[in-house]
Amino acid sequence: MSVLDATNPYRPGAGLAPPVLAGRDALLEEFDTLLAEVPRTGEGQRPWAVAGARGVGKTVLLLEMLQRAHDAGWTTARLEAGPPDSLVESLTRALYIPLRQAAGRARPGSALRRVLAVFSALRVTVDSAGTLSFGVDVEPPAEDTGADLGTDLHHLLHALGEWARAEGTAVLLTIDELDAAPQAEIAALNRALHRLGQDDLPVPVHVVAAGQAALPGTLARATAYAERLWAFHHIGPLDDDAAAHALRAPAAHLRVSWEEGAVDLAVRSSWGVPFLLQSIGRFAWQLRTGAVITRDDAAAAVELALADARGLFAARWEQLTQAQQFFVGALADAGGEADLGDLAAALGRAPGRLGRVRSDLVARGVVEPAGRGRVRFPLPGFAEYVRAAR
Ligand SMILES: Nc1ncnc2c1ncn2[C@@H]1O[C@H](COP(=O)(O)OP(=O)(O)OP(=O)(O)O)[C@@H](O)[C@H]1O
Ligand SMILES: [Mg+2]
Repeated sequence: MSVLDATNPYRPGAGLAPPVLAGRDALLEEFDTLLAEVPRTGEGQRPWAVAGARGVGKTVLLLEMLQRAHDAGWTTARLEAGPPDSLVESLTRALYIPLRQAAGRARPGSALRRVLAVFSALRVTVDSAGTLSFGVDVEPPAEDTGADLGTDLHHLLHALGEWARAEGTAVLLTIDELDAAPQAEIAALNRALHRLGQDDLPVPVHVVAAGQAALPGTLARATAYAERLWAFHHIGPLDDDAAAHALRAPAAHLRVSWEEGAVDLAVRSSWGVPFLLQSIGRFAWQLRTGAVITRDDAAAAVELALADARGLFAARWEQLTQAQQFFVGALADAGGEADLGDLAAALGRAPGRLGRVRSDLVARGVVEPAGRGRVRFPLPGFAEYVRAAR
C-alpha cells in the first residue's frame, strides 16, 4: 500500500477521540493516582470540575478518564447534562446499564438491592423488554429550593457507593456540559456531593464534570461552598511542543512526516486549539502528494481549516443579541483581547453596565476571561470574522 492510500488519521469534530491525546499528561497522571487511591481508601476525593473553551478537548479528556477507570476495574457511567432530561433522569439512565450488568454478577442480598430500591423510589421502571422509563413524578424542584432533587441525587450516589464498596470496586461518574443544566439542578448536585462527603461511612465514588471556562463561577453561584467542594482544573490550548506532537505523531505512525516549517506554521495558526489542529491536520493530509507534508500543504490547509471554522463563527455570531454583538464587535476592533474599561469607553457605556453582557458571553463560550478585567476570544480567526461580518 502506498503512503497516499493510508487513511487520514486526524479527527476534527466534537468528542471524537484524537489519534494522539497530546499535552494532558500532568492531569492524567493525577487522575491515575486517584484511580489507585480511591479503591484503596474506599473513599471518593473532591469532585473535579474541568473547565475550558469550546473545542479545547474536555469531552475527549472525560472519555480518556472513563477508559482508564474501566481498565482499572471501576464501574463507570457518563452523562451529558442539559434539557430535556433532569440530572436525576440522566444519571439514572447513565447508571442503568452498568448496574444491570452488575446485577447479573451480584450475590443475592448484596448492596446492589439497595441501589435498585433507590431506583424504584425514583419511580424508574423497567418493562419486560428491558426498556427503561421514568415515572411522571421525577420532577425538577421548585426554582428556589431544589431540596428533593438534591436528596434524590444523594441517595442514588450513596447507595451506588455502598454497593461499590461491598464489591471492592469504585465508581467514576462523568458529567459533560454541566453548565447546560438549570441552576437549580446544579445547586442540587452540589448539595448531593456535599452530603456525600459528610456521610459517616465514605463511599468510593468520584465525579468529574466538564463545562465552559465559566463553569467555576456557575458552580459557585449555585451554592456558596462550591469553591471548596470542587477541585477545579482549567484546560487551555496546547503549548507549542504538545501541538506539534499532536500533528507529527499520527502521521509518523503512518510513515508520513511534516516539514519543520510546515509544523511551525500549523501550530502558530491554530493557537494550539485542538479542534483546529485536527482540522488543519486533516486538510494537510489530503493535500500532500507524497510521504512529506510540505510548508505549502500546511499553508493551504490552514486557509481551508479557518474557512471551515467560519461556519462555526457564523452560527455563533447570529445567535447573539444586539447588545452582545456590540460588545463582540468592539472586542474584535480591539484585536480580540481587551480591558473591559477600554471596551466600555469604545462603546460609550459605564464599565459596570457591561458586566451582564460579559458574563452571558463567557457562559456561551464566545469570550473568555483573560486575567483581571480583561477578556478575549478563545478561538483564533473570530475577530477577523466579526470585523468582516458586521
Ligand atoms: N489533547 C488533544 N490532542 C489532540 N487533539 C485533541 C486533544 N483534545 C481534543 N482534541 C481534538 O479536538 C477536538 C475537540 O475535542 P472535544 O470535543 O473534546 O472538545 P470540547 O472541549 O469538549 O469542546 P466543546 O466545548 O465544544 O464540547 C476533537 O476533534 C478532538 O479529537
Ligand atoms: Mg465537549
